[in-house]
Amino acid sequence: MAGIEQRSIGIVMNGVTGRMGYRQHLLRSILAIREQGGLRLADGAVLLPEPILVGRSEAKLASIAKDHGIDRWTTDLDEALALPDTEIYFDAQVTSARADAIKKAIAAGKHIYTEKPTAEHTEGALELARLARDAGVKAGVVQDKLFLPGLRKLKRLVDGGFFGQILSVRGEFGYWVFEGDWQEAQRPSWNYRAEDGGGIIVDMFCHWRYVLEEIFAGVRTVQCQGATHIPRRVDEAGRSYPATADDAAYGIFELDGGIIAQVNSSWATRVFRDELVEFQVDGTEGSAVAGLRRCRVQHRAMTPKPVWNPDLPAGEDFRAQWQEVPDNEQFDNGFKVQWELFLKHVVLGEEFPWDFLAGARGVQLAELGLRAWRAGRRLDVPDLKL
Ligand SMILES: NC(=O)c1ccc[n+]([C@@H]2O[C@H](COP(=O)([O-])OP(=O)(O)OC[C@H]3O[C@@H](n4cnc5c(N)ncnc54)[C@H](O)[C@@H]3O)[C@@H](O)[C@H]2O)c1
Repeated sequence: MAGIEQRSIGIVMNGVTGRMGYRQHLLRSILAIREQGGLRLADGAVLLPEPILVGRSEAKLASIAKDHGIDRWTTDLDEALALPDTEIYFDAQVTSARADAIKKAIAAGKHIYTEKPTAEHTEGALELARLARDAGVKAGVVQDKLFLPGLRKLKRLVDGGFFGQILSVRGEFGYWVFEGDWQEAQRPSWNYRAEDGGGIIVDMFCHWRYVLEEIFAGVRTVQCQGATHIPRRVDEAGRSYPATADDAAYGIFELDGGIIAQVNSSWATRVFRDELVEFQVDGTEGSAVAGLRRCRVQHRAMTPKPVWNPDLPAGEDFRAQWQEVPDNEQFDNGFKVQWELFLKHVVLGEEFPWDFLAGARGVQLAELGLRAWRAGRRLDVPDLKL
């Protein structure tokens, strides 16, 4: 690339031995950006991210570094943060370890990009937002679902006025997570222990906040019924442990404009859907069903008129009466797309709306969901300010 200016940016990546840190952030984002030759910036330069891996296990870090030709890794976060050529700290650790590490990185003057939830409680999430603001560092939080092809197409329908007045949103997220006894669990055991920052409400309500607000409208109230359907599980070491956290949540949210959103989240359900998450949106002019990748619609004019008659077998193939929304664009990995936007935000000051206040709003909805469940009440969702 003769004549093209190349810039490097050092990124301290903590938690890359974990599921998300390794697969989505290291492999599918940072290394993918390197493999494509870097990130082309608006000023013509090319930005090359330089990861410095941080974690607890030397052996795991060394093995990842070797597999991917990465020369810098350490088990000492302070050492990594002291490196002069690192500008960004990224965190994909377990949720409970996040806030302390981010505080250190802010104190070291790094820009921060992090997995959600930013903290376990709203107050902690707001504190991080204030610290980042006061230190003058840029801060971003992963909101990957916004970049899913299915939800991008859904947003396109909303923006294009397809629905008329939107009446309701019904979300179904989940799959069976094995208990760990006769088949290994496909999620880490801390997810099922409240004392370790686990629980599906903390995990998923952060996502539902930004999905509902960015695609539809602000969330005004929350009702939530949680459950721990599977009371005992078996951990990575084969030990049986009590599941102290919720593994399913049945939430109802009132949105601005009177839209009712109902979202089920469960690690104790078997999938009879086309995708692991699906949202059905019903509006006066039409309806849509969007998943991770697909989005299908039924317009008002194409709506069949079923008549309730249990004496007869279903005479129509209801699924066949929907139309596929075309892609009309190329979709890249959502984590990578958001990383690229954050990198441009850091080096060129380009817009990046998913900051730590947005992160705190996600944590707030999770916390209110837990409180609403415990109290058996519908709770208002007040505006959050720094
Ligand atoms: N954006 C998303 O869709 C999404 C999906 C799943 C998880 N997450 C978030 O990503 C984070 C990591 O989740 P994961 O599923 O990759 O978890 P994981 O258990 O696979 O990885 C956790 C990482 O944290 C490190 N760690 C640091 N301190 C630890 C401790 N005390 N105990 C255990 N591990 C510790 C581990 O070494 C590992 O690298 C969580 O905050 C989670 O909420 C986000």
